[in-house]
Amino acid sequence: MSTVSCYAAHAADAPLVPHHITRREPGAQDVHIDIEFCGVCHTDIHYAKNDWGRSNYPIVPGHEIVGTVKALGAAVNDLRIGQRVAVGCFVGSCHHCSSCEADMEQYCLAGFTATYNSPSPDEGGVTYGGYSKSIVVDRHFVLTVPDNLDPAGAAPLLCAGITTYSPLKHWGVKAGMTVGVIGLGGLGHMGIKFARAMGAHTVMITNSAHKAADAKRLGADDVLLFTDAEAVAKHAGTFDFLLNTIPAPHDVTSYMNLLKVDGTMCIVGSIGPTSDLNSRPLIFGRRSIAGSLVGGIKETQEMLDFCGKHQIVSDIEVIKIDDINQAYERMQTSDVKYRFVIDIARSLS
Ligand SMILES: NC(=O)c1ccc[n+]([C@@H]2O[C@H](COP(=O)([O-])OP(=O)(O)OC[C@H]3O[C@@H](n4cnc5c(N)ncnc54)[C@H](OP(=O)(O)O)[C@@H]3O)[C@@H](O)[C@H]2O)c1
Ligand SMILES: [Zn+2]
Ligand SMILES: [Zn+2]
Repeated sequence: MSTVSCYAAHAADAPLVPHHITRREPGAQDVHIDIEFCGVCHTDIHYAKNDWGRSNYPIVPGHEIVGTVKALGAAVNDLRIGQRVAVGCFVGSCHHCSSCEADMEQYCLAGFTATYNSPSPDEGGVTYGGYSKSIVVDRHFVLTVPDNLDPAGAAPLLCAGITTYSPLKHWGVKAGMTVGVIGLGGLGHMGIKFARAMGAHTVMITNSAHKAADAKRLGADDVLLFTDAEAVAKHAGTFDFLLNTIPAPHDVTSYMNLLKVDGTMCIVGSIGPTSDLNSRPLIFGRRSIAGSLVGGIKETQEMLDFCGKHQIVSDIEVIKIDDINQAYERMQTSDVKYRFVIDIARSLS
């Protein structure tokens, strides 16, 4: 076992503070990773603040991890010491259920083991994430990062990247389609990049007028300011697919009229229960509302390789670990361009 420094939240209303955890000795199938960078996902805030009522404190968040191999278990022979690797949102699954057999570990019928806040046989009893110096992970859940990608910019691909790539692929986004990405934050900016790279006419749908120029720079063909009722009316019935990344309760029905007949809005943001769903725009247009959770390991590797080929990384603001509480505050006021990434190697001693 090794003692590892990290940052943790100890209660819903407490800031993250320096802390220590232990990591297991690598077993035969394990990879011990020195963490270089960890992205800051809005989910980290949901857990630190116990938004979903299932946080096991202390919480060590972080599931957008990039680092280098420090040590390998005896049975791992396809990675080398020093190689750049990555870990995303989960580190375990049953391997035998129909979802696992279909390479969709994120939908494991036995429940996947999340990178943090899941029950674990390791000391502490729960998994601890990437706001820490190192992590030990089963080889099956370790990804490789293409050499041409900047490691800090690649970190958010492990959650924001795969969470947007997977539904765009699943719903067959391609040239000739019009795709709207709702909410320009960490997920949203990756959604724009991927929809554009897949050839779709890509529209950023935002509540922040000042983000319009950035949306275009990130690859949006058009920007729809959702507070502009006239512009919203003009776009009615024009979208094949909407990817909704808003992280708070809101009126989802208000977006449905943007869809064409048979169009789908996929919700990836955490909005909780909603009582304002109106069947009318669904029925009058045979439209669908769906959801999607990150992506399986095979698809995550495919996404990373796609990013290597298309030179796609996240637009990031690199922070020191002691800036984490301020970063959380800024994210909660939509002030992020467009992902915070913690320089773990240089700022966590
Ligand atoms: N399904 C999955 O697998 C999965 C994976 C990762 C994260 N998530 C969830 O996805 C959500 C987004 O995460 P993120 O990291 O992209 O968040 P983020 O970086 O904070 O960005 C969210 C964006 O949504 C818009 N927004 C924020 N609050 C809003 C509100 N109250 N009403 C309307 N729009 C609002 C803002 O964009 P504008 O300024 O452009 O309006 C904001 O920049 C979170 O709930 C997170 O937990 C889900
Ligand atoms: Zn995430
Ligand atoms: Zn399973």
